[in-house]
Amino acid sequence: MKNLIFCLAIFFLFASCNDDKKEEAEEPEVSNIQKEWWKEAVIYQIYPRSFKDTNGDGVGDLKGIIQKLDYIDSLGVNMVWLNPIYSSPNADNGYDISDYRAIMDEFGTMEEFDLMLSEMHKRDIKFVMDVVVNHSSDEHEWFQESRKSRDNPYRDYYHWWPAEKGEPNYRYSLFDPKGEAWKYDSITNAYYLHYFSKKQPDLNWENPKVRQEVYDIMKFWAEKGVDGFRLDAFQFVSKDTTFPPLPEGYEKDVIKYYGMGPNLHKYLKELNQEVLSKYDVFAVSEGAGSNFEDAHSLVDADRNELQMAYHFKGMDVGNSLEGYKLSEFKEVYTKWDSAFAKEGWLSIFLANHDVPRMVSKFGIDSPEFRAASSKMLNTFILTMRGTPYVYYGDELGMTNIGFDSISQYQDIVAKNGYEKTINEGGDIDQYMAELKFLSRDNGRTPMQWDNSDNAGFTTGTPWLPINENFEEINVQTQNNDPNSCLNYFREIVKLRMENPVLVYGDYQLILPDNKNVYAYTRELDDQKMLILLNFSTENTSIELPEKFSKPELLINNYSEVQRKNSKLTLKPYQALIFNY
Ligand code: GLC
Ligand code: CA
Repeated sequence: MKNLIFCLAIFFLFASCNDDKKEEAEEPEVSNIQKEWWKEAVIYQIYPRSFKDTNGDGVGDLKGIIQKLDYIDSLGVNMVWLNPIYSSPNADNGYDISDYRAIMDEFGTMEEFDLMLSEMHKRDIKFVMDVVVNHSSDEHEWFQESRKSRDNPYRDYYHWWPAEKGEPNYRYSLFDPKGEAWKYDSITNAYYLHYFSKKQPDLNWENPKVRQEVYDIMKFWAEKGVDGFRLDAFQFVSKDTTFPPLPEGYEKDVIKYYGMGPNLHKYLKELNQEVLSKYDVFAVSEGAGSNFEDAHSLVDADRNELQMAYHFKGMDVGNSLEGYKLSEFKEVYTKWDSAFAKEGWLSIFLANHDVPRMVSKFGIDSPEFRAASSKMLNTFILTMRGTPYVYYGDELGMTNIGFDSISQYQDIVAKNGYEKTINEGGDIDQYMAELKFLSRDNGRTPMQWDNSDNAGFTTGTPWLPINENFEEINVQTQNNDPNSCLNYFREIVKLRMENPVLVYGDYQLILPDNKNVYAYTRELDDQKMLILLNFSTENTSIELPEKFSKPELLINNYSEVQRKNSKLTLKPYQALIFNY
């Protein structure tokens, strides 16, 4: 378990840990939610290293994204979020930034960025920039200066603890093999803080100069025309900078002791005033505090802070080799929906660059069920209230790669976790088994474009191996098959885009106790939809309540519907959407 905690520490940290009373599900209420363009969007997340390489160095690049914009457009999505593309030594694949106003050499140039953005806008595709400002790279000029001397003008850009005060109070690092978040630096005989890896020193947001730098950086990109910002790990920016000893049991709510600090809202209001309010942009929070109250405090419109919460409760489901129960899944999504029915706005996603592939985690990635289960899961994402985020390749049903040997992994978390497990004499077999399923590298393998060498991703050697199943799972093959995951995905995105009920409509769970089927309705004025999703490998019969006596079928991931009067039998992983 310890190993698992390390490899997943990041997710546990962002997760909500307080199951307090505020989380009791309430009856859905009629919403009068304000309409906004970013609520109506469908976001496609691209891990730039892995999308399309155009110069044969094995690493995806901006030119590659430009080349594939017609493909992205053909999906029907209307917004793209790219993981960080700034200059970076790549200790954490771009989440360690050394220059916030430059493009990483491997990815291309600023001219290419400008071209990419204007080509997106030409196609009515908006763009979300990842903003990583809880920490910088240790190779950033600010840190290089900061560590030089105690009176350097940049000293207070970071958190330093002078050694003569003794060892700083223990802080756990998410990414460090020894689990220590303070690193001793002999140049000035002091320790600096890094919640993530030692190459990612935490910026000191208490320093108004640091905050001004951040706002200026965001303005720089807003001036270029980006449409949104994703704030990475921002919950940690406000900390108790006296760094007191941690109380026993702090692990249960790390967010409370590590982040969501006393000044967080002050800073976010400042950021809103300085940047967000001046442009037609939105900002999404990575993580959303520890409970509904925290999440509302970050994104409700009257708070004037951020706009959209990306909470991790849904991601906490199924993080073990034993899998998950549908009841737990239903409960999480139903509670969060009702807590945000009247105010605030959520993101809906089942995967990203920090977790396993959607179909491997929540569906079944064996040939028999892969296509049906990935279509079903995409149906879920696109029919819930909240802005859907689709991770590149999930439109095809791309699966976990499941490495066996530590030498195959690239991710800093996997490698450091391995070292830590060895150092502590932990169960390395258990660690490797968990990693094979949960590692972040599973979701980072190159996009599968066609059945040529390297799946059409690169003419060189890919930075991370291509999944062996690319000959079957790829864009070219699926384009030509009307029943493919890809063409089903296009159909369901279109349905979402054309029906405001799927964006704004009230959500109500029905058949709550069914163990296999997740069933719910969406209603907006006289538009009413019924969504039935079989989350199991079993044929499952349900009795449709009276009010659905004459449903009109809109979407089906199989060719038939098995129905006799009010009794409907869903095939394994069948997904159905009806008007009623
Ligand atoms: C966020 C990112 C993750 C990164 C970390 C540190 O959680 O999603 O990929 O490693 O922040 O920046
Ligand atoms: Ca390249």
